[in-house]
Amino acid sequence: MAYFEWADDMVIDGGPIDEDHRLLVDLVNELHSATSRGAGQVVVASILRRTIDSTREHLAREEHIMAQHGFPDLEAHKQGHDSFMESLYALERQLQAGGITVAAQLSRVLRDWLSLHIRRNDKELRRFQHRRARGR
Ligand SMILES: [Fe+2]
Ligand SMILES: [Fe+2]
Repeated sequence: MAYFEWADDMVIDGGPIDEDHRLLVDLVNELHSATSRGAGQVVVASILRRTIDSTREHLAREEHIMAQHGFPDLEAHKQGHDSFMESLYALERQLQAGGITVAAQLSRVLRDWLSLHIRRNDKELRRFQHRRARGR
């Protein structure tokens, strides 16, 4: 069983948003295998960098899609994205400063935030589209 399991209740659009989320789930699993087998800082830092880049690209794409669909509360959603990116950069700085304990925390922070954010916040887009499709 993977560290971070994809589950059906994480489906948002059956398209680009889900593809991004699946990629991020894979990256978190890769990061977790690296830190749990005690991989060196260089290896961990490079997976983290790819994860950060993919996350940033995903969040921008998702915000764009939400704007196209006229998703309400986009500003609040963006703020959640921004503060998550800030915490990722902070973790990266700590890792570069030699924080061994940070390496172990990385995959947990990423998994917990993504899991909750997808199921609670991104899901709002799906609910919004369903409501609109029903004409309400
Ligand atoms: Fe997302
Ligand atoms: Fe989001």
